[in-house]
Order: sequence, then structure tokens, then C-alpha cells
Amino acid sequence: MKALVLSGGMGLRLRPFSHSMPKQLMPLANKPVLLHVIEQLRGLGVTEIGVVVGERAEKFSQYLGDGAEFGVRLTYIPQDAPRGLAHCVAISREFLGDDDFVMYLGDNLLPEGVNDIAAEFRARRPAAQLVVHKVADPRAFGVAEVDATGRVLRLVEKPERPVSDLAVVGVYFFTAAIHEAVAAVESSARGELEITDAVQWLVTRGVEVRASAYRGYWKDAGQIDDVLACNRELLDRLKPSVDGEVDAHSELIGAVVVEEGARVVRSRITGPAVVGAGAVVEGSSIGPHTSIGEGCRLLGVQVSDTIVLERASMRGVTSVRGSIIGREASVSAVDADGSHRLIVGDHARVEVAA
Ligand code: TTP
Repeated sequence: MKALVLSGGMGLRLRPFSHSMPKQLMPLANKPVLLHVIEQLRGLGVTEIGVVVGERAEKFSQYLGDGAEFGVRLTYIPQDAPRGLAHCVAISREFLGDDDFVMYLGDNLLPEGVNDIAAEFRARRPAAQLVVHKVADPRAFGVAEVDATGRVLRLVEKPERPVSDLAVVGVYFFTAAIHEAVAAVESSARGELEITDAVQWLVTRGVEVRASAYRGYWKDAGQIDDVLACNRELLDRLKPSVDGEVDAHSELIGAVVVEEGARVVRSRITGPAVVGAGAVVEGSSIGPHTSIGEGCRLLGVQVSDTIVLERASMRGVTSVRGSIIGREASVSAVDADGSHRLIVGDHARVEVAA
């Protein structure tokens, strides 16, 4: 089985971070979402992975290279514009050949994995095997109507009156039968080739399409609050380890990771939290649910439920929470006269005391 990981798209909902970085490279617990996906695919025994990339293709190759470091082989497949999930399948035809494949949206997080569903697909090989998840309000999702045996009877994209509470998650298993369906469907009202339409095309023709429930945590890390939620979720699974230095005046409480070359000085870190390689935390109170990226400098700060990206610096700011600080960004206390000096990038969001 091969894999197709979709990492194109605009990522508009994750601005301003997506201006300079594809959202699939946003770190969760200090590791890009996409790498969490790749590790999971490797766990399924899948090592031939096609990565559909959009405008910022070079960012992926810079970070992941040919995949050898991560035990997989990556083939980058450029997509000229986000023309839909079925379009991604169409442009990957040569890479996929006639092999079975798993298609995984590169911003989806399913930490419990889909090993049992992959085994079901491999054993039975329906034309398509969807992964579904019970949600309270299915109206924002593709929704599957499924019979008692797990066979899909109908698929509806973002229904006003949902036929079930089973949302279609961003992981799909396909045999080569999907290619005929993808070639047959036309662009939807929003101008995209929809995978939902291609799968429905199979269902309409009486071809076997099945759905299996995933019961773990699921979210797509496509918006700021969801990124923070995913970060919390992964940090909650953190195993503590200290490879950097922690001085005698510091205290680590709970699951804390201090990566190699990091220094914690006169600080209190409440887990779950991770301090990235080479970062310095001094005179600060950090966590819980905080990820500090590689090479950051934090001095005299109080930060919780926050992601600080690589090489950012923070000085003298307290009560920071629910925040994401961009790469190489600098956040510091107000000037001596109490005025705020703000240099804020496009589409950024800042909240300061009145
Ligand atoms: P979305 O989150 O639906 O789209 P997006 O990335 O453009 O985000 P936004 O709505 O904030 O602008 O896409 C889901 C995943 O599939 C994501 O990882 C991007 C990827 N994708 C492609 O690779 N090609 C496409 O044509 C589309 C529509 C999405």
C-alpha cells in the first residue's frame, strides 16, 4: 500500500503563520503535524509516500528531504492551485499506479492511529474505506449514512439536515477503483473536484464503500484555537525526559521534556511542557501545556497554554496564555513610559491590556 498526504491548500484560516510556512509544518509538541502523519503511516507499514504540495513546496523539501531520515521515501507532487481533494488524486495517478493507497490530509491529527481500520481495509479491500467519527454537530463536515454492516449508503457534504452524526475524517483508504470515479466527477459549486462526489459516484454504482469508526481524539489543525487544542492533546501524552541542563534553583513539575542543549535557569516549569533544543529559559514560570521551540530565549516571563516557535524571544511579559508566537518574533514588556510598541505582521491578532 502507498500513501498520499495532502499538503497543498492555502491555509487561510491559519494566517499569519501560513504566510511564511505551510500549515502542515506547524509544530505540535515541537514536531510538525505532517511528521506526526508520516510516523503514523510508517507505523502502518507504508513507506512509499506521495506528498501533494502547493505554493511553498520548497519548505517541505527543506524540512523532510527525501524522507530517508524518517524511514520513508517521499515523492513531491506539485499542485498548481487548491483544486480539491479529488484533484490531488488525479494529479498523483502516475505515482499511485494501480496500487491501493491511504489518503491522509496533512493537517489532520488522529493520535490513536488507524491501524485497526487499515487492517480491515487490507483484509476486505472495498473500493473505498472511509474513517468516520461521531460528532455533536455534523453540519460542518462530510457526513456518511452507514448501514448496520458498515456499508456506506450515502455521503453528503456539509448537510443542513444531517442523515447521521458520523463525520468523514481526513483519512481514506482506496483501491485503484477510485481513479475512474475521480475522472468521472465534475467540479462542485465551490469550484473544487470533491472526493465526496467521487466516493458517492462509487456508492451510486453499487460498488462497495465501507466506513469504520475512529474513537480517539480527532481534529484538523487548520485554525489557531485548534492548533492550541492539538498541542495540548499531544503534550498530555508526553513522556518526561531531560537532555539539557536544569540548574539547582529550577523546578520541573510533572511531564517536562528539556531537549538537548536547552538551559533552564531559576525557573519553574509545570508540565506537560517541552523546552526545545538549545532554548534558554531564565527566571520564568512556564506551563502547563506549553511548547517552546528550538533556540528560543525566554527571560522573566510567565507563559501557559502557548506555542513559542523556533528562535522567538520573550522578555518580561507575564500572564501570557492561549498564544502562538511566530518564528524569530520578539515579545517584550512595555516601554518605561508605559506605552506599547507593536510591530505586528499582516493578519496577526494581538490583545493587550487597555
Ligand atoms: P483545507 O483545510 O480544506 O483547505 P486549506 O488548506 O486551503 O485551508 P483554508 O480553508 O484555511 O484556506 O484542506 C485540507 C487539507 O488538504 C490540507 O492539508 C490542505 C490539503 N489540500 C490540498 O493539498 N489540495 C487541495 O486542493 C485542497 C482543497 C486541500
